[in-house]
Amino acid sequence: MSYIKIFDTTLRDGEQTPGVTLNTAEKIDIARQLERLGVDIIEAGFPITSTGDFEAVTKIARELSEPVICALARTSRADIERAAEALEPAAKSRIHVFTSGSKIHLEHMLRKTPDEVIQASIESVRLAREYTGDVEFSAQDCTRSELEFLYRLYAAAIEAGATTINIPDTVGYGMPHEYAELIRKVRDNIPGAGDVAISTHCHDDLGLAVANSLAAVGAGATQVECTLNGIGERAGNTSLEEVVMALHTRRDHWGHETGIRTRELYRTSRMVSMYTGVAVPPNKAVIGENAFAHEAGIHQDGVIKALETYEIMSAETVGRDAGVLVMGKHSGRRAFRKTLSDMGFEFDDERVNTLFKRFKDLCDRKQKVTSDDIRALIDAETARVPETYELLSVQFQSGTGMIPVATVRLRTDTGVYEEAATGDGPVDAVYRALERIAGLPLKLESYELRGVGSGKDALGEVSIRASHTTQHDAQRETQYVHGRGLSTDVVEASARAYVDVLNKLAAGVGRVQGAPQVATP
Ligand code: KIV
Ligand code: ZN
Repeated sequence: MSYIKIFDTTLRDGEQTPGVTLNTAEKIDIARQLERLGVDIIEAGFPITSTGDFEAVTKIARELSEPVICALARTSRADIERAAEALEPAAKSRIHVFTSGSKIHLEHMLRKTPDEVIQASIESVRLAREYTGDVEFSAQDCTRSELEFLYRLYAAAIEAGATTINIPDTVGYGMPHEYAELIRKVRDNIPGAGDVAISTHCHDDLGLAVANSLAAVGAGATQVECTLNGIGERAGNTSLEEVVMALHTRRDHWGHETGIRTRELYRTSRMVSMYTGVAVPPNKAVIGENAFAHEAGIHQDGVIKALETYEIMSAETVGRDAGVLVMGKHSGRRAFRKTLSDMGFEFDDERVNTLFKRFKDLCDRKQKVTSDDIRALIDAETARVPETYELLSVQFQSGTGMIPVATVRLRTDTGVYEEAATGDGPVDAVYRALERIAGLPLKLESYELRGVGSGKDALGEVSIRASHTTQHDAQRETQYVHGRGLSTDVVEASARAYVDVLNKLAAGVGRVQGAPQVATP
């Protein structure tokens, strides 16, 4: 079996998903989980673009020791030096230098001649090699580029010291057989290509990113660039979980292995969905809610008799169980810890105690507590910050023909406050009342409600993205924050999500977004 490297770009290309911004603490949490998942390379950011990106790359580089930490840079001295500076604390570092390969990009975007692009690439790869022995080189838009130019460009990059050559299908234009052919041609016609790693980077504009990546692997690529849940620019990137499970489930066909601990897939996917606020569609392969659900009677009958009648991989392999009943009102702390451990979570005493308290609160409201509920409790705790604001109670009245009204009580470090407000619906009324107490005007950018499990007493999980704008003299600054709330009552879950946002703003973990300093790829 030969080894395929998994290069995760959730924190870089994934963060380019429209509407997504991750703060540094969230990026570090995701990076730690990616290390647990076993990815080989983490592309942690594009340091020249903002101080936030720079800081995130540096902190991740300092914290993680297993994966290679990679930073993106254009073919410019300033970009490469900034990437190198951000990567300084890394145990293993990579600089990813990129330019463009197609006439369309050269003429309209770079405004450079082919020779100028080659010269800048040579100088940049050489400069990057002064900082690290691991340099990746990419030319955007390879699938719409002239082959002869790509051969010259990549040959020059290899000669200058690139150790991985990445062949991006930046616009998701390639068909699997064409992309495989491109990889083959690159491998066979570029001097030195046999001595470096060949990488794929596919976008999903035509829904072919995973198919194209696999086709490239079949043609000799040894690294796949991908993101959790397939998030990324426009239609997104190759889904890590899909490509990994295709290689794993059909290893008879591919004959390759990866370093991914597949049982960590579901947990990683949920964390990314939670922090980015990008929901996973229920029918999404491998990690969607329905991926292991059997609806038709004939299917149910089949899987009861033998799972393999309709399942090509088991839910457990990707870290899921069927939301089984695991605990009840009478379960004690020791049994709770054992359940966490069986589910793959090892926490310190303090964390177990906090979760146990939340679990007991949940048992008072819900008869059957499932592994899905416990996972949701853990997720809700993961991104917690100190509670400057504590929600004490929410009451509301709404119904046909009446104006919704809500009363909320909130504890802050200066006392307990109560406010009432009316609104366009119960959630709006609650949010207005909370805003009155906190005195922080927030703009709700997105609101999402998801049911955890099934049944009338199912938990409601609310995920919101809000922004807060401040004006200091002539300077306007907008912070973006995600908040999550969990409750069997969806209005209360909504209130909790709002309070989570308030606490994050108070803790200063909002992501400040100003005008980007450079255009991102
Ligand atoms: O899509 C793309 O071409 C990229 C490059 C920076 C690799 O993201
Ligand atoms: Zn990309």
